[in-house]
Amino acid sequence: MKSAEIREAFLRFFEEQGHTRVASSSLIPGNDPTLLFTNAGMNQFKDCFLGQEKRAYTRAVSSQKCVRAGGKHNDLENVGYTARHHTFFEMLGNFSFGDYFKRDAITYAWTFLTGVLNLPKEKLWVTVYASDDEAYDIWTREIGVPAERMVRIGDNKGAPYASDNFWTMGDTGPCGPCTEIFYDHGADIWGGPPGSPEEDGDRYIEIWNNVFMQFNRTADGVLHPLPAPSVDTGMGLERVSAVLQHVNSNYEIDLFQSLLAAAANAIGCSNDNQASLKVVADHIRSCGFLIADGVLPSNEGRGYVLRRIIRRACRHGNKLGVKGSFFYQIVAALVAEMGEAFPELKNQQAHIERVLKAEEEQFAKTLEQGLKILEQDLAELKGTIVPGDVVFKLYDTYGFPMDLTGDIARERNLTLDEAGFEREMDAQRERARSASSFGMDYNSLVKVDVATQFTGYKATAGEGKVVALYKDGIAVEQLSEGEDGVVILDQTPFYAESGGQIGDSGYLTAGGDVRFDVSDTTKTGGAFLHHGVQVSGSLKVGTSVSTEVAAEVRQATSLNHSATHLLHSALRQVLGDHVQQKGSLVDSQRLRFDFSHFEAIKPDQIKALEDIVNAEVRKNTAVETEETDIETAKKKGAMALFGEKYGDSVRVLSMGGGFSVELCGGIHANRTGDIALFKIVSESGVAAGVRRIEAVTGAVALEYLNAAEEQLKEAANLVKGNRDNVLDKLSAVLERNRLLEKQLEQLQAKAASAAGDDLSGSAVDVKGVKVLAARLDGQDGKALLALVDQLKNKLGRAVILLGGVHEDKVVLVAGVTKDLTGQLKAGDLMKQAAAAVGGKGGGRPDMAQGGGVDAAGLEAALALAVPFAEQGI
Ligand code: SER
Repeated sequence: MKSAEIREAFLRFFEEQGHTRVASSSLIPGNDPTLLFTNAGMNQFKDCFLGQEKRAYTRAVSSQKCVRAGGKHNDLENVGYTARHHTFFEMLGNFSFGDYFKRDAITYAWTFLTGVLNLPKEKLWVTVYASDDEAYDIWTREIGVPAERMVRIGDNKGAPYASDNFWTMGDTGPCGPCTEIFYDHGADIWGGPPGSPEEDGDRYIEIWNNVFMQFNRTADGVLHPLPAPSVDTGMGLERVSAVLQHVNSNYEIDLFQSLLAAAANAIGCSNDNQASLKVVADHIRSCGFLIADGVLPSNEGRGYVLRRIIRRACRHGNKLGVKGSFFYQIVAALVAEMGEAFPELKNQQAHIERVLKAEEEQFAKTLEQGLKILEQDLAELKGTIVPGDVVFKLYDTYGFPMDLTGDIARERNLTLDEAGFEREMDAQRERARSASSFGMDYNSLVKVDVATQFTGYKATAGEGKVVALYKDGIAVEQLSEGEDGVVILDQTPFYAESGGQIGDSGYLTAGGDVRFDVSDTTKTGGAFLHHGVQVSGSLKVGTSVSTEVAAEVRQATSLNHSATHLLHSALRQVLGDHVQQKGSLVDSQRLRFDFSHFEAIKPDQIKALEDIVNAEVRKNTAVETEETDIETAKKKGAMALFGEKYGDSVRVLSMGGGFSVELCGGIHANRTGDIALFKIVSESGVAAGVRRIEAVTGAVALEYLNAAEEQLKEAANLVKGNRDNVLDKLSAVLERNRLLEKQLEQLQAKAASAAGDDLSGSAVDVKGVKVLAARLDGQDGKALLALVDQLKNKLGRAVILLGGVHEDKVVLVAGVTKDLTGQLKAGDLMKQAAAAVGGKGGGRPDMAQGGGVDAAGLEAALALAVPFAEQGI
């Protein structure tokens, strides 16, 4: 069976068992700062497990794209060296949200494997969490797996619940005991059953994990029972394909064959099972998908992980002898292999290629140099540990991520002093005071059952009740005057930062003199977090408050948000359908929109964009919203961020009767006319293939134009003109300036000529040749050249060297009359003279020019003329 057929068979089987087929979510987890990348099928359902989100279904099935590089589940270092680890893989999963539990989950898994895929029962082994007798009994008594192929696994990772059979999404979040199904690839492959000392071999491979979700783990390590026991399963598509295609390594399955061939082709090496080629074939998948989902290489967070993966691929290509950029060339094979199932790859092929090529070219500049430095350091190394400062130097100066240096070290049986490297990094962070804010664990703040109702689409004020308070990340009963903290209400009109729009500010008040000023609003799970300071009185859990959003700020922000949508549509009209949103930021002062496009936007295109948006503004159509399901929305042509996580019900926002239709949960103008005026203030590039437009609307746009007008008035005043004639006046000033410059030049030439007359008298005679060396300050090179010409005519057989200081630099001109150039060359004299003033020069045998910066050497330079002539004649 081909991988694509297995994927389809899985989805269909569970659909037949009443599961709803749900599309893969983006690799960038939506609104979940605890997670670096989507690393399991259950991520998009996290809030369903926690009871914070209800969907129309209680059973789901998906094939989810996952990246396990960086973060808790990190396989990067193993990739290429084992048969089954990947940075990117597809996870087939079935899920129950408080619907079926252990018995059905186990039965479905067994039926699918043995009844649909027809795997031989005797090849399957099963593990359960040591204390999970219920699962053990279902397997042995009901399914009939013999005890000798059942293994109980306890807390084998050194702490309570730290076990191969207790699955956790991250340090916090939904978790529970699991039962795993292994496939025995046969005695001719080394390895032992799970739980045995040889379990890391490639003989017994885990293919399916069934997690019985029962708890939410908070940052303090406490396990809180979930509202309803649930099921989360995951089966690696690549692993099960290997089983069904009768190969032991994932790299031998159909999906990888074309990627390996394309990699070998791009590199120009043979395709014979080298680890480095597997690394490249694996990495093109994570890199391609991450870029398609909006990640760009950078020096922090997700962007840095992407950069690490690209650089690791480049280094392995380099090991295989590649010359020049190669990695981006494999994108086409990836699109051919997976573009059908994941259209975002196809749509963004050109963008992915550009980003990869730019990153490769940038890294190529330092790769070779860095490898040389590393070679030198390794040659001098005593012992087997590469010191932290060496690893840091490579990182800091040559852009070698630590795992890349680690890879090279491992090939030579060396290890890294990781702690030493971290110390150097800490020191640098301290120096730069730029610790990244990634990983702020808001999840630990919020209890499972907090879900705030949002009332802010219609109102900017209302009432609410305090359901939780936090200070310094810890739940408290009360916030007292002067304290910073976070307030969670049962309902709020405050918009929480999302979809590029900043969170609302404003204040909360309660009886007496109680006031909490809100500076920002964010959300995690279902809870809205009002961040701010208790300015007077105190707030307690249970207090009823009045809520008041800063309405003017909100209003100005909403105009910018609506204008962003109009700009998005206008961009596609003016530049083409390849324009994809890459990011946006909307606040009360301006809007910023990043999108894929390959070159700078031309002035006439900027004008066209402004004209289109302002025409929509003048039409003053109503901004309409509609709640519907994702499929209906897509049929209406709604632009959605590709792969973004959307719940069952989505909000479709339309303007201009179909001019702009987007999925959006943000706050918008009532009518497009509210925007009043749209003005683009800048256009720039932010990364390879990504442009940025910044624009203003409403009162801010008017202010912007007023300021421009003010400047124009000032400019007119300077040339004693007015708004109507300022251009004529300016042209006249420039023309006069040009004339004056010309006159000045003529006067200078005249002055030089007069000086020439004077100078000719000071030439000395060297064996019948006139040698003249003189200093003339304030003349540029052109004037000195003219003078040398003139002096040649006047002096007959002559060697001339003139020099002077002009605009802080030394200018030198040397001339030799034609009859002497056989013996003496002006260029040679110039070389010596220029060196004396710390510069360079050269030219023809009869005329040479040069200059330098060291005026103190000018006399010495001029003194060179006579000895030069004496030696040559
Ligand atoms: N979440 C579990 C895993 O990733 C099962 O899907 O293994």
